[in-house]
Amino acid sequence: MDLTMESTTLVLVKPDGVQKGIIGDIISRFERRGLKIIALKMLHLSRERAAIHYEEHQGKPFFDGLVDFITSGPIVAMVVKGNQAIKVVRTMMGTTNPVDALPGTIRGDYALTIGHNVIHGSDSELSAIREIKIYFDEKEINRLD
Ligand code: TYD
Ligand code: MG
Repeated sequence: MDLTMESTTLVLVKPDGVQKGIIGDIISRFERRGLKIIALKMLHLSRERAAIHYEEHQGKPFFDGLVDFITSGPIVAMVVKGNQAIKVVRTMMGTTNPVDALPGTIRGDYALTIGHNVIHGSDSELSAIREIKIYFDEKEINRLD
């Protein structure tokens, strides 16, 4: 059985990651792994766009704090492509709560609290398609190999 499957995923370097100066390290980790960056920008999210991004978490106790945090400074958004990119990026990120994240993962190397966990990556094919559209127009994504 051939388990290769090209997919694309949305990655955000959150405000704490930008502040820590680890944009380059995060991009390097993906490139070393063989994943391709096919779109990239720095931006500052509005509360409205942040609420759309995190709509699945609306009503949860951490929602307002999450929106405060993700809108607190500039972020870097990128579209990452490669074999099973959604799954591979999630594994490289480490667990949501950095306390449990293994050393060698991005969260395991750079984060200590769930409210400041450095990076976002889409969790499924449907999420990836929805989230990429929040940040990028089709013409901003380099689909050529
Ligand atoms: P979630 O989508 O569950 O995690 P992930 O980023 O790994 O996909 O949650 C989104 C973000 O919300 C998470 O990165 C950090 C924040 N969060 C909290 O602050 N407290 C919590 O209890 C949870 C579950 C998430
Ligand atoms: Mg999530």
